[in-house]
Amino acid sequence: SVNGNNVSYTITAQQGKTEFYPGHKSNTFGYNGNLLGPVVKLKNGQHVTINLVNHLNEDTTFHFHGLEIPGDVDGGPEQVLKPGEEKTISFKVNQEAATLWFHPHPSPHTAEQVYKGLAGLIYIEDNNNNAKKLPHEYGVNDFPLIIQDKSFDSNKQLDYKKVKNDDGTTGHTVLVNGKVDPKFTFKKELVRLRILDASNARVYKLKFDNGMKFEHIASDGGYLNKPDKVSEIQTAPSERNEILVDFSKVKGNKVNLINEDGKVILPIHLINSNKGTKKSDDKISNLSLNNIHVSPKEKEMKITKKVVLAGMGKDVTINGKKFDKNRIDFNQKVNKTEIWEIENKKDAMGGMEHTFHIHGTQFKVISVDGKTPLEEMQGYKDTISLEPGQKVKIAVKFNHKGIYMYHCHTLEHEDNGMMGQIKVS
Ligand code: C2O
Ligand code: CU
Ligand code: CU
Repeated sequence: SVNGNNVSYTITAQQGKTEFYPGHKSNTFGYNGNLLGPVVKLKNGQHVTINLVNHLNEDTTFHFHGLEIPGDVDGGPEQVLKPGEEKTISFKVNQEAATLWFHPHPSPHTAEQVYKGLAGLIYIEDNNNNAKKLPHEYGVNDFPLIIQDKSFDSNKQLDYKKVKNDDGTTGHTVLVNGKVDPKFTFKKELVRLRILDASNARVYKLKFDNGMKFEHIASDGGYLNKPDKVSEIQTAPSERNEILVDFSKVKGNKVNLINEDGKVILPIHLINSNKGTKKSDDKISNLSLNNIHVSPKEKEMKITKKVVLAGMGKDVTINGKKFDKNRIDFNQKVNKTEIWEIENKKDAMGGMEHTFHIHGTQFKVISVDGKTPLEEMQGYKDTISLEPGQKVKIAVKFNHKGIYMYHCHTLEHEDNGMMGQIKVS
């Protein structure tokens, strides 16, 4: 409910059943429902109260991925709610418009709980005037696409224990918004898609099968400086990307969103728009949406924290260590920018991709392997994916105090201890 500048929500983690395939009900988890969760809509400046309820038969936590809030309400592995417990948290929203999400974080059961269906979206709105010119009517011209891969057994049940992989559980079937057979109908006009990769481990390269270009407008923490015209978008686990697609340019009434392997992720059916088929994205491409820059000072600053991601399977580590809830790995002062270097260390086996995420902050990417990052990496990010051997420099500032996690967002890596803690004071 909303009352002036206050808003309150109840989020209940619960078990349910989902009929992914007709006639077969599978056990699933959801927030306020059987699978996935509601879209929590917040405004910058708002005072938010959330009543968190655990109706599962196991411990869980409620983590707000990408929200810049104090550590004690961020929902890390130490903020456990036992079965039947509830608690109320409150915080003030103090960050720009963005698409964020929430998910459980109990150690070491994050991967399983997300896989079973616990994931919800958070939209933050603000007073960005140019952004008001973008499509923003939920379910009309602004749609979430939560992309997840899962495997079903012969009885069409989701059974995490059977398919669990220590290097990241992947599935044969890609679901969109919890549907194994997603079908969307859009009007032939400019449509905004907010893509969340809520898969345990899978990286996607998404494009349309007619090769059309689209505008990439936002990444994890908010808008890019201006729309970036691309024909493909890569997303690693937990990353968000918003795109604007001008469906008026499609010939015919069908187009598919596909993965790099050509597999159809989302078949799209198109109907004529009452707005006619005027080229709607031309006025959008030059829109200025944000003003994010790495300052000369930030460029000069010395690296003060080094993070080395290494290993595979059960042997994953950060800086040679595994997660220990009783150990603080880093300290940083609130409101003070530090330069972190993240390295994905190659090993004799070659290594593998890791996806680095920090709680409670939106960082800026200063360089990737010593070079200026691509435009799509120049917005605020809370997650960055690294190929074996890659090194990135990021500028990190926390606006609140508390203890925060940083970890690989391949969820089985995180559960296997590829996680550290930073104390911000
Ligand atoms: Cu999506 Cu610890 O985070
Ligand atoms: Cu997070
Ligand atoms: Cu990893």
